[in-house]
Amino acid sequence: LSFWVVIPAAGVGSRMRADRPKQYLPLNGRCLIEHTLDCFLDQPGLSGLVVCLSPDDEWWPELACACDPRITRADGGRERADSVLNGLQALTALGAGEQDWVLVHDAARPNLAQSDLQTLLATLQHDPIGGLLAVPVRDTLKLAGPDGRVSSTPDRSLFWQAYTPQMFRLGALRTALSDALAAGVAITDEASAMEWAGQAPRLVEGRADNIKVTRPEDLEFLRRR
Ligand code: C5P
Repeated sequence: LSFWVVIPAAGVGSRMRADRPKQYLPLNGRCLIEHTLDCFLDQPGLSGLVVCLSPDDEWWPELACACDPRITRADGGRERADSVLNGLQALTALGAGEQDWVLVHDAARPNLAQSDLQTLLATLQHDPIGGLLAVPVRDTLKLAGPDGRVSSTPDRSLFWQAYTPQMFRLGALRTALSDALAAGVAITDEASAMEWAGQAPRLVEGRADNIKVTRPEDLEFLRRR
């Protein structure tokens, strides 16, 4: 099965309170984003990989992988969806077809297991829509108002956390993302754009430790492993 990869990496990462975007923070001797790229680069079936970076990014050129011929750089945009759209455009320029599978994976998710990637590809390769890695929520959920007081406790058996990679056909994903952006819909992952377009992405259960580094303690958790 052949596939393309887009890594959105143009976020500011303000919740990390660090001196640089979170994908450039060190994890076991290398930057987060180098671990993330390694999850894909030696995969059989990889047709090409695009990293979406802020035009002001001064850290990327310092990395060895900046010279890797398998990696193409695209500009990030204002929202994550803008960054991904730029990435899809770059894939088309590389020769990707409208029906080709694209995997979108957060730069800040460096701990993707090979087994999860294989399961995702194998489960979705014949799916009419595509889908994403996800994890059933383990804690009880609370719905609260702005005052921090609980108003209700939903049935947690219905809830999943949306992880990445998220895997869709290039043409369908581009249309869904650009239509949702044009309509002003809040889009925090690719699946939500597909849902907005009337499609039901499939959830593929993955490992809980494929975490997105968001807060300082997430990085401490990965460093301790
Ligand atoms: O902000 P959040 O942690 O949800 O970002 C998820 C991923 O999307 C990160 O890898 C981040 O760099 C990327 N992103 C982007 N362009 C933006 C905002 C976020 O590529 N405008």
